[in-house]
Amino acid sequence: MDEQEFTSADPFTLFQEWMKEAEASEPNDPNAVALATAGKDGMPSVRMVLLKGTSASGFSFFTNDGSEKGLQLSANPQAAMCFHWKSLRRQVRLEGTIKDMPGEDVDTYFHSRSRRSQLGAAVSAQSRPLESRELLEAQVRAFDEKHPGEVPRPEYWRGYFLYPLRMEFWKDGPDRLHDRFLFSRKDQGWSVQRLYP
Ligand SMILES: Cc1cc2nc3c(=O)[nH]c(=O)nc-3n(C[C@H](O)[C@H](O)[C@H](O)COP(=O)(O)O)c2cc1C
Repeated sequence: MDEQEFTSADPFTLFQEWMKEAEASEPNDPNAVALATAGKDGMPSVRMVLLKGTSASGFSFFTNDGSEKGLQLSANPQAAMCFHWKSLRRQVRLEGTIKDMPGEDVDTYFHSRSRRSQLGAAVSAQSRPLESRELLEAQVRAFDEKHPGEVPRPEYWRGYFLYPLRMEFWKDGPDRLHDRFLFSRKDQGWSVQRLYP
């Protein structure tokens, strides 16, 4: 791997280049990412979410703030993400702090989704026990009839940014001699280090 490519790179730009290559080569969901959180008890928990954007504010995703991850993020606003692009044999790991997305931006994204998926998100008490599939479907029908116009975004459906403090790029190499570069945020910019595989 060209070391210069890493040592002179901005990690956000590098991430966007890797994501573009993943979009061209992955069979589906190149933006799927494992999101790890832990509440006050420190017990880690991990699940997939879809990355919806990157900006100076961080890496964004959407979820229900009453879900397990939502409760953990409000108790402990720190998280980690791990992308694995199998077709490219690459991994990116992020660790950082969690910030809320402004409500207007959440509304814009919520209303850009299909009506069915807005309804589904609105009625789902995500991660809490559900008596039956029929109950969920009846709740979707009832909400649909109650709101024939725009589907209101529930307060609990929110957007978050993971503001990365560390970003690691991993690329498969021969004989397990993989390349790893770790970017750590400094007061100004980033420092970068090569790591043993
Ligand atoms: C590929 C994939 C993408 C997903 N994207 C999201 C997402 O963007 N937001 C979300 O809340 N759940 C998403 N889910 C569902 C979560 O993995 C998880 O089941 C749900 O959020 C509840 O997690 P929790 O109980 O840990 O809060 C996705 C699942 C998969 C497999």
